[in-house]
Amino acid sequence: MQSFGKNILRKWRWKLEGYHRSVLLGEVVEALNVRDAWYIDCTIGDGGHSIEIIRRGGKVVGIDVDPQALKRVRQRFDEAGVDKRKYILVQGNFRDLKKLIQTGTKFAGVLFDLGVSSLQLETPERGFSFGKEGPLDMRMDPALGVRALDLINAGGRKELYELFSRLGEEKYSRALADAVVRARQVRPLTTTMELAGLVARVAGIRGKLHPATRVFQALRIAVNDELAALEEALPQALEVLDKNGRIVVVSFHSLEDRIVKHFFKSKELIIPSKEEIKDHPRSRSAKMRVFEKT
Ligand SMILES: C[S@@+](CC[C@H](N)C(=O)[O-])C[C@H]1O[C@@H](n2cnc3c(N)ncnc32)[C@H](O)[C@@H]1O
Repeated sequence: MQSFGKNILRKWRWKLEGYHRSVLLGEVVEALNVRDAWYIDCTIGDGGHSIEIIRRGGKVVGIDVDPQALKRVRQRFDEAGVDKRKYILVQGNFRDLKKLIQTGTKFAGVLFDLGVSSLQLETPERGFSFGKEGPLDMRMDPALGVRALDLINAGGRKELYELFSRLGEEKYSRALADAVVRARQVRPLTTTMELAGLVARVAGIRGKLHPATRVFQALRIAVNDELAALEEALPQALEVLDKNGRIVVVSFHSLEDRIVKHFFKSKELIIPSKEEIKDHPRSRSAKMRVFEKT
């Protein structure tokens, strides 16, 4: 049983590599209509979108909840010789957007590129990746009190079922909740590979997704309270936006996209090209929506 799970994990490992490009890079900066003005990148991450905004003449307030992301982006910008007058980096959660920017200035555009960054996925100690052994942590902000392993080991059967089904839209939620509760009676589940192996054994291989994708998604959303943060941030983004300014949101699953779609009453959707998906598999589930303030 154990090795069945491990084989599945080995088979899928290749899909976890090559995450270095920013998703929908060209489409995002085109949609922001970049000119010599200030933009907010609410999820600066590895800095790829922001560098391109600056390269095209814009200036960026770059926000990230993860202090490690800001440290690396600062280093990356220094190495690339980016003019320090063209960006300001701020650590914080975009759910506090107005407080973080502390200015009455209006912005020409606001970008949200949701989800995890390459740096986060590729750092095993952060616990985001089901293909790398690490603690089941998943906090984007290390100051948060609850890690994924706390949810997995403390949640009741019903809570786990609801977590997997609501936030992961996982078909095998009931069987998985039962399996987690059984497994932790022997010893707590504390690592990414333990959980990924358990999910693979219970749910088996289905389609193209790694079997643990949805469970990991559910845990990450819960740990970081991602949906509420997005709901709180969108109206603030609209408030700080100048007339004719644009908000661009790149999301990676239907729960996020639903929030964006309803908020902007938006119908038009931009998705990555076949070439981008081939070069950069993580982009396959990306959806971009653009809103212009009139
Ligand atoms: C997909 S990455 C962004 C990648 C970036 N656009 C690039 O081109 O490199 C998402 C980033 O947003 C950050 N993030 C996620 N939720 C956040 C929130 N509520 N507030 C601030 N930052 C957040 C994550 O820590 C991560 O670094």
